[in-house]
Amino acid sequence: MFKKLAPSILDVDFTCLEKELKTLESGGADLIHLDIMDGNFVPNISFGPKIVESIKSKTSLPLEVHLMVEKPEKHIKPFIDAGGDIIIVHYETSKHLDRLIQTINEADVKSGIALNPATPLNVIEYLTNKIDLLLLMTVNPGFGGQKFIPEMFSKIEKARKIIDNQKKSISLEVDGGINFDNISKVIGAGAEIIVVGQIISKSANPEMTIREIKNILK
Ligand code: DX5
Ligand code: ZN
Repeated sequence: MFKKLAPSILDVDFTCLEKELKTLESGGADLIHLDIMDGNFVPNISFGPKIVESIKSKTSLPLEVHLMVEKPEKHIKPFIDAGGDIIIVHYETSKHLDRLIQTINEADVKSGIALNPATPLNVIEYLTNKIDLLLLMTVNPGFGGQKFIPEMFSKIEKARKIIDNQKKSISLEVDGGINFDNISKVIGAGAEIIVVGQIISKSANPEMTIREIKNILK
């Protein structure tokens, strides 16, 4: 299984966004992870569609939009119009998840569901033939630089088994607290797309750090 690296730009220097994106590209990032936070579903506020549109104009890498917002149905179209290639919604934010996923699929972009650490895997049982991606949060969403929750190793393993039993291919992604000490174990448990934030953005040499991570993913 080909493993992918999705750096999160949450904690990069936004005054040099274009340069930051070039660094991620030249290091070998496979896609760009965009953390959208509304100050309601999660305590933090990040950025909106306008910034995503600017990012789209400066990179050819696919953009995945991780929506950590209340009332996600209001925000799907603006982020698709801004250039999002994969739209990921949190199970915990919607009373009508099936409808939400349908809306994304009808817009002809990829759809994903994110689950908070405490949310069980069975909530996606009737959606597995409709989504392209399952994102397991390995920290409580809201901030970069948090500690990986160790119970998530077995959740990744369980999710891998569920996904392998599906006809539809679903990518398994993990997000939060991934570092050089746990990345091999996370991959071993069955994760396929790895979101990495601060260990890249706070590194003295982000490009080299991406290369090092990519080497582990090979
Ligand atoms: C957390 C975000 C993550 C975060 C990852 O709410 O969804 O994408 O930026 O950052 P690190 O790798 O620093 O935990
Ligand atoms: Zn994220």
